[in-house]
Amino acid sequence: MTVVRIPVDCYISADFAALELARLWPRVWQFACSIDDVAHPGDVYEHTIGPYSLIIVHGEDGELRAFQNVCQHRGAELCTGNQHGVTELRCPFHRWTWNLDGTLSEIPSRKEFGIRNEELGLIPARVDTWGPLVFVNLDPDAEPLYEFLDPVPADALWADIDRFACNAAVAIHVDCNWKTLIEGFSETYHVQGIHREMLPMCDDVRGPQTTWQRHGKLQQSYGLASPRLHERPNDQQIWEAFVEVMGARAGADTIEAAGIVPNHGTTLELRASIAQRIREHGAAKGIDYERFSDAEMIDMHQYNIFPNITVLVFADMVNVVRARPGADPDHSYIDMWNFAPIPTVAGGGSVATTVATDTTTRVAPLHVELQAADGDLMGLILGQDVKNFGRSQRGLHQPGLAHLNVSETEECRIVSLHRNLAEYLET
Ligand SMILES: [Fe+2]
Repeated sequence: MTVVRIPVDCYISADFAALELARLWPRVWQFACSIDDVAHPGDVYEHTIGPYSLIIVHGEDGELRAFQNVCQHRGAELCTGNQHGVTELRCPFHRWTWNLDGTLSEIPSRKEFGIRNEELGLIPARVDTWGPLVFVNLDPDAEPLYEFLDPVPADALWADIDRFACNAAVAIHVDCNWKTLIEGFSETYHVQGIHREMLPMCDDVRGPQTTWQRHGKLQQSYGLASPRLHERPNDQQIWEAFVEVMGARAGADTIEAAGIVPNHGTTLELRASIAQRIREHGAAKGIDYERFSDAEMIDMHQYNIFPNITVLVFADMVNVVRARPGADPDHSYIDMWNFAPIPTVAGGGSVATTVATDTTTRVAPLHVELQAADGDLMGLILGQDVKNFGRSQRGLHQPGLAHLNVSETEECRIVSLHRNLAEYLET
């Protein structure tokens, strides 16, 4: 039980942010988009991180490739935003053109340059997938993605994330450092601070936390009361708190839709009954959850993947929360990617996996940008987190504050982030 001191400079200093741009972002695997964004030949997705931009391109040969987003003529940005049905990558500036596989195909007035097509391909980047998540790395010599992610994919095998498709992604510009942001998703110590509505329905204290070499995990149980509450709420109160926080999982969007649960008075029975409601809600949408246990149905397996994402895995949903650096150390973007299971035919079985690997049936998700002030649109808990980011960051600028005091146990996933960051930054 010790305190780890984290210098405030790493959240507010322009020099520190410059070091991240020089030594972290060009070398680390990072989540770029969903497989649904680039499911078809001619799909192009632009991933930006600070000043860097990469394009992920689904080639006519079915291969996924990534390139630095820059024309090899005079360095203009090649593509802007996401596109579909693209047959070539043409720079609007002077119309130099590359094929989707990155080979040069056209230079207007070519004889003035004397460059042959095989001489000047686009600058490649690494790209690979874990389930429906697409990752990129600017470093051509980076270790394979699965080595980098180890042991997260093996730990999450039970959930078979290939079953999922992305339906929507929301980006919000927020007034805090990207680490302040992702650290809000790296501990549940703040549930008793800003998410008190969760206390009757969530064990915010005893959920086991794991830190591996790079990444971390929290397993958290829902449908039971926090040990911080001195008196156990009754079943109806626990159920209504569950509905307020995440009732849509069980087909109950409002307290009015919650209805009455039979009062079992035991955590086990109440959790089984909530798990069954989630299963039934899934079955009505053509999704079969019969193979998942009650605990797998109701609880969260949260992975903190270095450096800037957390993946929340449930049997019935996967959410990716990503923190992207903004224009200066005091700004960033929170990107939320929602994945839902692909409905199977009646009676399910292993059909979902077949559907998932066959990308032809996938459709590009909706992409929406919101402002931090649109908190109400984000749901109760996320809205509370977003409202808290600016306050967290402003405090860091007080001249008397030299370092933060972080618990090595309770906040171990934050400590792990900074240890890994120091390794990349060689500080
Ligand atoms: Fe939170």
